[in-house]
Amino acid sequence: MRKIVVTSGKGGVGKTTVTASLGRKLADMGFRVVLVDADVGLNNLDVVIGIESRVVYDIGDALSGKCRVFQALVPDKDSTLRVLPSSRDSKLISAQAFRGVVESLSDFDFVIIDCPAGIENGFHRAVSAASEAIVVTTPSASAIRDADKVVALLSGYRLDDVSLVVNRMRPDMVARGEMMPAEDIARLLHLPAIGVIPEDDCITLYQQLGRVPDFALSEKAYALLADNVANRTKNYAEIRYPRFRRRRWQ
Ligand SMILES: Nc1ncnc2c1ncn2[C@@H]1O[C@H](COP(=O)(O)OP(=O)(O)OP(=O)(O)O)[C@@H](O)[C@H]1O
Ligand SMILES: [Mg+2]
Repeated sequence: MRKIVVTSGKGGVGKTTVTASLGRKLADMGFRVVLVDADVGLNNLDVVIGIESRVVYDIGDALSGKCRVFQALVPDKDSTLRVLPSSRDSKLISAQAFRGVVESLSDFDFVIIDCPAGIENGFHRAVSAASEAIVVTTPSASAIRDADKVVALLSGYRLDDVSLVVNRMRPDMVARGEMMPAEDIARLLHLPAIGVIPEDDCITLYQQLGRVPDFALSEKAYALLADNVANRTKNYAEIRYPRFRRRRWQ
């Protein structure tokens, strides 16, 4: 079992989106994957995956003995992915109890933990249950600065691997010198980039309807990210807009 926490420091940079899309890609590749929502109180992984109406039990119920952890897992409609929903009320879940829940999922190939924003208790709880971390940032200066703080904090945990995903990249802005390229962000943070996800309107649009379609701009980037995670490789690809986009400006 590989236990990967998706974290960022700054809120709203795409942790939940990366967790959901990476999880689905790995499930499509044939791996047994469970996503764990560690964002207690402000949880929304179930909504992003589109399973919120089927949630019966949550992690809090499993911890209080109301159900077994396995019973709280909700299957995705379109893939073999399973989701362990977060507690709906923000009652205190200790890091140790959370770790115990994650360890009980040893039948799965991948446990991907969606970390809450910030660097307080929720961060500690999520990270201490993982053995690998993916740091998500957008190319904005404030997100990079928060990611830097998180990278420093992660060095205090026993993690086998820490890598970087740059989200909401705009290749046109990079070309005009208005946005930092992923390569520079990776160098600043001293982390290997394993994914560069473009800004993609399809993500917001289709998240409400269910799965992001295969033609979405971000799908190839997510496939490459999943390949990297599955094979423990650190390949990184520059993003270029497809031809139809470029034509508009010619
Ligand atoms: N590559 C992208 N292109 C366009 N929109 C995106 C992209 N990635 C994420 N978003 C949008 O950004 C918003 C925030 O994403 P998300 O909820 O995944 O962030 P988060 O880091 O989990 O936030 P929080 O810290 O609140 O948990 C969502 O509306 C999502 O649809
Ligand atoms: Mg989130």
